[in-house]
Amino acid sequence: MRVLGLETSCDETGVAIYDTDRGLLAHALYSQIAVHAEYGGVVPELASRDHIRKTLPLIQQVLDEADCAATDIDGIAYTAGPGLVGALMVGATLARSLALGWGIPSLGVHHMEGHLLAPMLEARAPDFPFIALLVSGGHTQLVRVDDIGEYRVLGESVDDAAGEAFDKVAKMLNLPYPGGPHVARLAEAGTPGRFDFPRPMVNRPGLDFSFSGLKTHTLTTVRECSVDGVLPEQDRCDIARAFEEAVVATLVIKCRRALEQEQLSTLVMAGGVSANRNLRARLDADLGKRGMQVFYPAPEFCTDNGAMIAYAGARRLAVGQVDAFETAVRPRWPM
Ligand code: KG4
Ligand code: ZN
Repeated sequence: MRVLGLETSCDETGVAIYDTDRGLLAHALYSQIAVHAEYGGVVPELASRDHIRKTLPLIQQVLDEADCAATDIDGIAYTAGPGLVGALMVGATLARSLALGWGIPSLGVHHMEGHLLAPMLEARAPDFPFIALLVSGGHTQLVRVDDIGEYRVLGESVDDAAGEAFDKVAKMLNLPYPGGPHVARLAEAGTPGRFDFPRPMVNRPGLDFSFSGLKTHTLTTVRECSVDGVLPEQDRCDIARAFEEAVVATLVIKCRRALEQEQLSTLVMAGGVSANRNLRARLDADLGKRGMQVFYPAPEFCTDNGAMIAYAGARRLAVGQVDAFETAVRPRWPM
């Protein structure tokens, strides 16, 4: 089965073709970062308009790259939620109209399911069951995954998502949007151990997260170190380092706790923050020495992309799941 996947839930237009026998045939990604950068965050109206401009040309591009005609496509998957309602509607409407015109089924996919299955696109793919750490701009969750569609949320952030905290700290440090990669780069030049930031909620039992206190602590430190409103360069790097260290340490502790609680030895990490190199290294080292295994998507499939939606859709379409006739997007959609 050959599935076209569309991702338009936020600020990336992702399109891909996944073949259940041959794997990923083609994928293309257009990022709207430049459109939103001057506003310091995603402007929903501009996101919808840009998705409308870009999605059809990208579909043509992946069809050409995969050497496919429309008649070679057996189904269309699109992100039906969660996300920005206007942006989701662009993908849903296009996917459903094309499917109707081409006489093939379509299926709306959960964005976070796309993320958590993204490591399955790799040659070294995990086996079920596993624990997934989903860390993106909108979510921080630990999920027990027993099979496709068999998910149990074990813990999640009670306030900011990890990526959101990275983005807010980036603003405090005068870094551009989206801030995560910029904070990570600045942290590399930071002095380890200069500041010791709190590891939120690690001393309490359970698997929930909280990042808003850490964010406030970071802001307080920025103010304390600033001289006439200017933060000296080395302090900037040291604060970025301390913040990243605290987030990474917290995530590592909670992942280990989830694996031990569920008596599993496989962790899958996905979502934009899983591109963070320090987080990957620390999880590899900490879980590796306990005989546990960690799986990640390739960096290009950590952040939003069409390949993960094509893959998740293909797994579901292949067992006969299809959309009802009425189109619905779900801006809020629990896992
Ligand atoms: O999954 P994603 O592309 O979009 C959402 O569904 O949210 O995740 C984007 C988030 C942003 O908050 C971004 O700052 C963060 O992932 N991010 C990172 C890194 N790369 C992206 N955070 C920390 N370190 C990184 N290297
Ligand atoms: Zn995402």
